[in-house]
Amino acid sequence: MIGISGVPAFLKSVLSAPAISALVGSGGTFWMPPQRSTFASEVDTLFYFIYWICVFFFMLILALAVGFLLKYRRRGEEIVVQKSAHHSTFLELIWSGIPLLLVLAIFVMGFRGYINMATPPAGAYEVQVTGQKWNWSFTYPNGYIDSELHVPSGEPVTLVMTSQDVIHSFFVPELRVKQDVVPGRYSRVWFETTEPFEGTVFCAEYCGTSHSEMQARFVAHDPAEFDRWMERAARWWEGMSPADIGATVYQKRGCQQCHSVDGMGGIGPTLQGVFGSRRTFADGSTGTVDENYIRQSMLEPRAKVVQGFDPVMPTFQGRLKEEEIAGIIAYMKSLSQ
Ligand code: CUA
Repeated sequence: MIGISGVPAFLKSVLSAPAISALVGSGGTFWMPPQRSTFASEVDTLFYFIYWICVFFFMLILALAVGFLLKYRRRGEEIVVQKSAHHSTFLELIWSGIPLLLVLAIFVMGFRGYINMATPPAGAYEVQVTGQKWNWSFTYPNGYIDSELHVPSGEPVTLVMTSQDVIHSFFVPELRVKQDVVPGRYSRVWFETTEPFEGTVFCAEYCGTSHSEMQARFVAHDPAEFDRWMERAARWWEGMSPADIGATVYQKRGCQQCHSVDGMGGIGPTLQGVFGSRRTFADGSTGTVDENYIRQSMLEPRAKVVQGFDPVMPTFQGRLKEEEIAGIIAYMKSLSQ
């Protein structure tokens, strides 16, 4: 349906300039990224329907305003104040009826799309989504947790989403799917991609300092390739040293959003040179960073917050496997040698 397109011909010629078309992206328009889900054409049709109504009435009202400005401008002769015209039932019906029909059409299209999006088909592939400041994690049916969302292309996928802290919003522009992720409850959304592609999961609800960096890689695989990916991914740490496992967890699970490994400051303390050091906590007590302290800091992050930092780290209780916790500890030891 993108044939009716958001871009008039004269703009299209402008947009064909390489720099701008890079901005617009392949297959997308000036307003919209490429369509990559079964919802997309429906959403775009409604968007452009409203868009062209706005363009039409903007032009009409502007033209009438300018026209009347000229027609009734002061010409120097004496102003004769005329009696107001008698009201016209016919005119009033026209200017009430046309907007009513337009708004009803928008309602019907929007409501049908909403119902469709709110009703996942039975048997869809289900992924649990957790949002927290400021990363996403995705738990697959076999218990594997990743910071990237991988789905089989051409099959319905349902997301069951919740938040550990504040309201976030799951958004993948190419899918035209956006849904709030709320603490203390589960929200659902579903989609079916039309082709394999790589995109980005954005957070579309302002949730604090690193909101704009709360992103995750999105990959829609060819279905056969998806099974192979899952098999590899679920056994990712096999054959790796604990420190390498830790370095990978650090990258994959969003630790790097707040903790540097090069001594630089951040939202949380750097992990460099920390193992074995003495720390002063928010309540004035002190302690040595050992295995138990690191483990506790991941599972009960508010228990002993280092002085000078806000208690903003979310808990990873139930979201890290023992191998991953041991890996982080080994990785931090390696950063302190
Ligand atoms: Cu999470 Cu914005």
